Amino acid sequence: LHVAVLMGGWSAEREVSMMSGTGIADALESLGHKVTRIDMDRNVAEVLAGVRPDVVFNALHGSPGEDGTVQGMLDLMQIPYTHSGLATSVVAIDKQLTKQALVPHGIPMPGGQIVASESLYAGDPIARPYVLKPVNEGSSVGVAIVTDSGNYGNPIARDAEGPWLHFERLLAEPFIKGRELTTAVIGEEPLCVTELVPKSGFYDYDAKYTDGMTDHICPADIPEAIAERCKAIAIEAHRLLGCKGTSRSDFRWDEEQGEAGLFLLEVNTQPGMTPLSLVPEQARYVGMSYAELVQRIVEEAL
Ligand code: DAL
Ligand code: MG
Repeated sequence: LHVAVLMGGWSAEREVSMMSGTGIADALESLGHKVTRIDMDRNVAEVLAGVRPDVVFNALHGSPGEDGTVQGMLDLMQIPYTHSGLATSVVAIDKQLTKQALVPHGIPMPGGQIVASESLYAGDPIARPYVLKPVNEGSSVGVAIVTDSGNYGNPIARDAEGPWLHFERLLAEPFIKGRELTTAVIGEEPLCVTELVPKSGFYDYDAKYTDGMTDHICPADIPEAIAERCKAIAIEAHRLLGCKGTSRSDFRWDEEQGEAGLFLLEVNTQPGMTPLSLVPEQARYVGMSYAELVQRIVEEAL
């Protein structure tokens, strides 16, 4: 096959996407495919029209790329592509729209409220402790945790340079204390549950992409019932949103509350494929190499 790997672009997760895309392109070449690597810019449609690939491997993260824009362009160009389609991407990139789509179906998610960034000057939007995050970013870009004892990410400082001010729409969610869990779905199968234990205490951008900063416990050392519940929620969310190929559902679990303390935070439709990323790690756990995973994602697109 001739596969065009779309990567980079101009989202806040550009560097992560370059890492994902490079790993994917290398794997596709090792499998004998013809590969064209495309660092996406505004001329991407023109470039693709010239390249005429059989399929696009979408290795983009964030916007544009994970948000439906690129999916819509590829739909119009009638080029098959990996991962989720237009409508799914539009909903899943937006953490509030995701809640609106899933909570009515009984998927447990924390309550949330959209706040305009300027309104933070007036004080806390909801009771502490809470998490403030851009409604449509990934990799913890712009995430802040506000507690009574001290802020992580410093969101409420009266500082016009505060990182949250770069984001128009923020989501304020009650902070769920406890553990960080994640489950990948490939095709229609949940893989396993990984617990992330960041050494700094926060699973932020640096903890995600710096080797050694976070312990990944795969499979997580949690009760079987919680692991099964994570997998059931991950597959149900994947189906309800209409995800294709692969997705990764991220959770917080307050173990003091047992099963009632498990909350889905979001569904990632373009999960990371870097050497430290979780989907490749879970695939390895079920016996699938990185190259086999990449091949499988391509096949799901055709
Ligand atoms: N947003 C990053 C790439 C992830 O979900 O893995
Ligand atoms: Mg995400």
